[in-house]
Amino acid sequence: MSAHTSPTQGPKRVRVHHLAEAKARGEKLAMLTAYDAVTAAIFDAAGMDILLVGDSIGNVMHGHATTIPVTVGDMIPAARAVARAAKRAFVVIDLPFGSYEAGPQQALETAVRVFKETGADAVKLEGGVRSAPQIRALTDAGIPVVAHLGYTPQSENLLGGPRVQGRGDSAVESLAADAQAVEEAGAVAVVLEMVPVDVAARITEIVRIPTIGIGAGPHCDGQVLVWTDMAGMTSWSPRFARRYAELGVALQQAAEDYVSEVKDSSFPDAEHSFDK
Ligand code: KIV
Repeated sequence: MSAHTSPTQGPKRVRVHHLAEAKARGEKLAMLTAYDAVTAAIFDAAGMDILLVGDSIGNVMHGHATTIPVTVGDMIPAARAVARAAKRAFVVIDLPFGSYEAGPQQALETAVRVFKETGADAVKLEGGVRSAPQIRALTDAGIPVVAHLGYTPQSENLLGGPRVQGRGDSAVESLAADAQAVEEAGAVAVVLEMVPVDVAARITEIVRIPTIGIGAGPHCDGQVLVWTDMAGMTSWSPRFARRYAELGVALQQAAEDYVSEVKDSSFPDAEHSFDK
């Protein structure tokens, strides 16, 4: 299949109602992060249902150690590029740390701005019961919200780093209460990050909205990965991420070949030069 030719069946454009319909049919949702138009076009043509302009842009593209420094100003140009490139996928943009926690009014102001300026289809924010008022306010304003529970990277200082969440009876109960709270507040889907398999399966059973797992086992209604982990762009990936390619090695080899051909003058040759 050549790049940018879609192999997929299903809706021409994935809209919000297709997410719940997919869950009802038992059809899994495939979601990947994207931060620019080039990769968004490739993933869209590959049949990705959802593209997430994640605040992981901070770690993955901007060289930060965490997502905490990411700003709305970092997210908007990335989401704009992804939304322009996506012909079929449902595009979700993360609200970064500090842009919604103060309350429903702050969340609404941020979400209205990113919606107007990017063309994204939904926003994502972290937190369960504590973020339910924000989810309700955005939903009431016509902005679909994807929630994010389990390990929530914006709270990594409180959680002590990337650790599995929802272990132990009280943690399971509180995760289930969070999932029900975001559903009742109007969330259209919920990401479950680093949650034990049986806990993610139970939450998937008790909510009607799709659960999208990352390090949450096979029973979620869909899966999401950070694209650079999935494509093997870096030497290390988290344990839950399968590497479907080794693009980092391939790219370094291509760059080394280019350096060497420039140095020995074998590039450019006649084929890559113009006659008068
Ligand atoms: O920002 C991101 O990439 C995410 C995924 C880990 C779900 O939120």
